[in-house]
Amino acid sequence: CGIVGTIGTSQSKNILLKGLERLEYRGYDSAGIFLSEDGSDELVKSVGKIADLEEQIAPEMSGTMGIAHTRWATHGQPSIENAHPQFSTSERFYLVHNGVISNFTQLKEQELAGTTFVSQTDTEVIVQLIAKFVEQDGLTTLAAFQKTLGLLEGSYALMLVDKENEEQLYVAKNKSPMLIGLANGYNIVASDALATFDVTDQYLELHDGDFAVVTKTTVSVFDQDGQDVHRAPITIKIDHAAATKGTYDTFMLKEIDEQPAVLRRISQHYLANNSSINVPAELLQLMAQADRFYFVAAGTSYHASLVGKRLFEKYTKKPVEVGVASEFGYHWPLLSQKPFFIFLSQSGETADSRQVLVEAKKRGLSTLVLTNVVNSTLAREADFHLPLLAGPEIAVASTKAYTAQIAVEAVLAKALGVQLQERLAVEWDLQQQLSLAAVGIDRVLAEKDKFAALTKEYLTDQEHAFYLGRGIDYDVSLEAALKLKEISYVHTEGFAAGELKHGTIALIEDRVPAIFFITEKLTASHTRGNVQEVKARGGNVVVVSTEETKGSGDQFVLPTLTPELMPLLTGVVGQLIAYFSTLQRGLNVDQPRNLAKSVTVE
Ligand code: G6P
Repeated sequence: CGIVGTIGTSQSKNILLKGLERLEYRGYDSAGIFLSEDGSDELVKSVGKIADLEEQIAPEMSGTMGIAHTRWATHGQPSIENAHPQFSTSERFYLVHNGVISNFTQLKEQELAGTTFVSQTDTEVIVQLIAKFVEQDGLTTLAAFQKTLGLLEGSYALMLVDKENEEQLYVAKNKSPMLIGLANGYNIVASDALATFDVTDQYLELHDGDFAVVTKTTVSVFDQDGQDVHRAPITIKIDHAAATKGTYDTFMLKEIDEQPAVLRRISQHYLANNSSINVPAELLQLMAQADRFYFVAAGTSYHASLVGKRLFEKYTKKPVEVGVASEFGYHWPLLSQKPFFIFLSQSGETADSRQVLVEAKKRGLSTLVLTNVVNSTLAREADFHLPLLAGPEIAVASTKAYTAQIAVEAVLAKALGVQLQERLAVEWDLQQQLSLAAVGIDRVLAEKDKFAALTKEYLTDQEHAFYLGRGIDYDVSLEAALKLKEISYVHTEGFAAGELKHGTIALIEDRVPAIFFITEKLTASHTRGNVQEVKARGGNVVVVSTEETKGSGDQFVLPTLTPELMPLLTGVVGQLIAYFSTLQRGLNVDQPRNLAKSVTVE
């Protein structure tokens, strides 16, 4: 979900709508806006995209303050009633909320018996509680706000309007991101700086448990005990070109195309100095003492972690365990004596990953985050963080962040391996490899027409598809399958090619597409055998190989890199197949149904 608010500017409507458009990638099943000016106000809500909301807004609608929200449904289906802002029965209080209140049912029963609710949301409980404390118990709005926050369990970024005092916005944050932006002569509030990057680059960052009162010219921040606190302004600069589509029709294709530049940027940042790798010495020392690494992540970042395990085990000779964050958090494995935790997260906000980080810190364990958003929650809370340098990634399906994660994992494996004087690491010319990978991606990108033709022939009328590979090719099969299914809705599975004969082969029938990655020399001949098994049953086979493993008839032959870096190229193959399949089905590439870019609920 995304939140944006303004106070003290006649530009409120434009800033809020622009902000919603930019936050749409965080959730887009419904949206709403509340605007007020000189005591007259208006609420507009709509199911669907921001464009649907905009259609319902009269040109003359204006305001000097307002709050707006784009939703990714958790409690209650997408509907006008469940869209935010939610309001009190008295229609005096209006509230937008990101996150999940885990005790909302108890609060409803214990504190709000007799109240009529119009939505199924946890958010409505918050706004009704505030109203009750003001209207029945006689508290001031600020006191009611604070009292309500004290009752909430779970995560929230909240913003409240009291129609009887429209000079103020009430803001609060716990476990969900929230920033207060200081603009020229007025103030704004946003859950993500992307929403407002053209209005200001100065923000106050609320800490968990903080709440604030924001007026046109002032911001007062309080900690959870209600004590005045000072939060120093931070600068968040977002490059306009990086955050907009430019000449592209979709963010996804723009971000796919940016990947060679991302690799060059990573190489320049981390490896340009020949005498040392640009990773903090203190971090490397701590990592050198570890006896096992635990990589924890979700979605695409989890798939990048699988590649990280191979890189780390090869170049540092230390064992690695990889965990899906949502599983790990509630089923901790037995840890080694000296564990070291590495979190991968494009957004740095994923709640599943964060709860593992919080617990790891509670246990006093060392933590590092690789993230694309340097001022994100995870970056702030971990002992160390390394930037992915991919630039803003807006398309819901992650592409350049995956590539950047693998490259930064490689940097770290190399740096630690060198520190540990591991021969393979010392001899590994990673700078050259990243440069070859960048050129290799350019070569793959030059074949877009071929990908478009291939997806048209093999995938347009198919409901199921398979990606198969062994070793590192298995890791990338999982990612390629996720990419295809999440945006084209073709039911796609990634499998270890050797497992095919143990069950999956039952699903192969006439024309079922099976895409094989065969870049691993060690197992190439076995996987070629699997190709034959699929062909014998009528499946449509696509083979992606390398100059070292190629066979006759392979559709794509890629340049050879260090084996563990091949996902830098095979990953892009998977991205392009997903992109063209989706485009050809006439679906929204950037905003697939039901998904959100950053999931701040567990
Ligand atoms: C969401 C996104 C995925 C992403 C995952 C982890 O589910 O839709 O694309 O891989 O979250 O996100 P993170 O920001 O932690 O990498």
